[in-house]
Amino acid sequence: MFGLTAIPALKAQSASAPMNDTSSLKVMVEARGIVKVLGDAPNQVKVLKGVDLDLNAGELTLMMGPSGSGKTTLLSILGCILSPTEGQLTVAGHPTQGMSKEGLADLRRRHVGFVFQGYNLVPTLTAVENVMLALDLRDINGPEAHDMAAEALEQVGLAHRIKASPSKMSGGEKQRVAIARSLAGSPSVILADEPTAALDGTNGRAVMELLAQVAQDTNRAVLAVTHDHRTLEFADRIVRIDDGRIASSERPKIDGTSVPSEPTAH
Ligand SMILES: Nc1ncnc2c1ncn2[C@@H]1O[C@H](COP(=O)(O)OP(=O)(O)O)[C@@H](O)[C@H]1O
Ligand SMILES: [Mg+2]
Repeated sequence: MFGLTAIPALKAQSASAPMNDTSSLKVMVEARGIVKVLGDAPNQVKVLKGVDLDLNAGELTLMMGPSGSGKTTLLSILGCILSPTEGQLTVAGHPTQGMSKEGLADLRRRHVGFVFQGYNLVPTLTAVENVMLALDLRDINGPEAHDMAAEALEQVGLAHRIKASPSKMSGGEKQRVAIARSLAGSPSVILADEPTAALDGTNGRAVMELLAQVAQDTNRAVLAVTHDHRTLEFADRIVRIDDGRIASSERPKIDGTSVPSEPTAH
């Protein structure tokens, strides 16, 4: 376990974040009318049916919805892994319409960090080397990369584990390395797809707490898909998706709406 005090640098940045006014927050991701058709004719499926979504810097948005409702597809589009069939997407102020594949990949490298359910660490590399890989993609290497990677690991409470290999780490530690990796290049947006799904309750909670801390940086938006209603208390915003459409969006800390207590179907 690690507490909120594990990452003082992030805490300090949060001091200027407005607590109850979202109008002054920077929109880091703006999606409008996103439609995504997947599969080949005649078996094409309209997976997303017109999604409008803004992700604000300084906020943790949690996304919930049944399996197959389009959450991973939407995350892939917001993170410039997939292109939408229709609709507009702006990431960190850059409209993506008409961008080449290389342009999209560059935007993704510079502005987006991903966290996955299965951690996606390279088993033969140490924690610090795994984080350095993400920096290498941004052409940062050598001692500078090592220092930045070590700092990112310190931010997630793993300063003492930088030389550990993933096989020697718990699931919670591995996911914290993955979060450090996503943080290392100071991205404008972090997208986490069911980051706590493989963790027990205590580690899942700790990872969600960490993502909430990471989201307090006023230059960064964080979106996490979750099925775990116990993590909803960390959310600035809860978005529900159903059958390719946004079904609801709540801001429990501002609206005073109650955090839903029922488990959501997988
Ligand atoms: N390559 C594909 N071709 C056709 N259908 C797909 C493809 N990938 C995903 N789907 C379908 O799209 C829907 C949404 O998938 P996904 O975004 O993974 O949902 P979620 O993450 O909410 O479980 C599912 O019905 C899935 O079967
Ligand atoms: Mg999914």
